[in-house]
Amino acid sequence: MPVVVIDRLEDAVPVARALVDGGLPAIELTLRTPVALEAIRAIATQVPEILVGAGTVVAPAQAREALDAGARFLVSPGATPSLLSAMVDTGLPFLPGTATVSEVLAVLEAGLTEMKFFPAEASGGAAFLKAISSPVPAARFCPTGGITAATAGDYLALANVGCVGGSWLTPADLLRDGDWARVEALARAAAALR
Ligand code: 3PG
Repeated sequence: MPVVVIDRLEDAVPVARALVDGGLPAIELTLRTPVALEAIRAIATQVPEILVGAGTVVAPAQAREALDAGARFLVSPGATPSLLSAMVDTGLPFLPGTATVSEVLAVLEAGLTEMKFFPAEASGGAAFLKAISSPVPAARFCPTGGITAATAGDYLALANVGCVGGSWLTPADLLRDGDWARVEALARAAAALR
């Protein structure tokens, strides 16, 4: 899952095209810049072949804003009760964020089995997910945070990992230079990982 920060609105569509051309079917557009919602809207309307979602949903109101912009899924780094309820209210699929066993259990108690594990590398990495697969087998994760092309495979090899996310596919320098061919190549390499 490419976790993308868009600073210039005009980059949104070429980035999405490069990712989908490289074989990645989804993009998590983070709500970290003033143009993020417009970028989601542009991708949703101009690159319908990629599934665009909103990432970095940290306040309840952002869930509805992302839905209105055309996001088809939501990702949050955390999972407060009000955030969970706002994301449920959109009717969209979403990944709440977890980093500890108690947070994972709280999300399971809310009736959700798919979640983000963030920040993955700083929170114990693949070893953490492997260790909790036996006591907490119901939870499935999308780890993100500090993962690279070199370490993604360690996560993807785990039975409780559904996908892996990160910004290594769309580094800031490639976006700044408009190097869409290189983004496509990174996407192709990632698509071949599993
Ligand atoms: C996220 O929001 O998932 C992270 O910012 C991605 O982490 P990374 O930039 O270390 O890949």
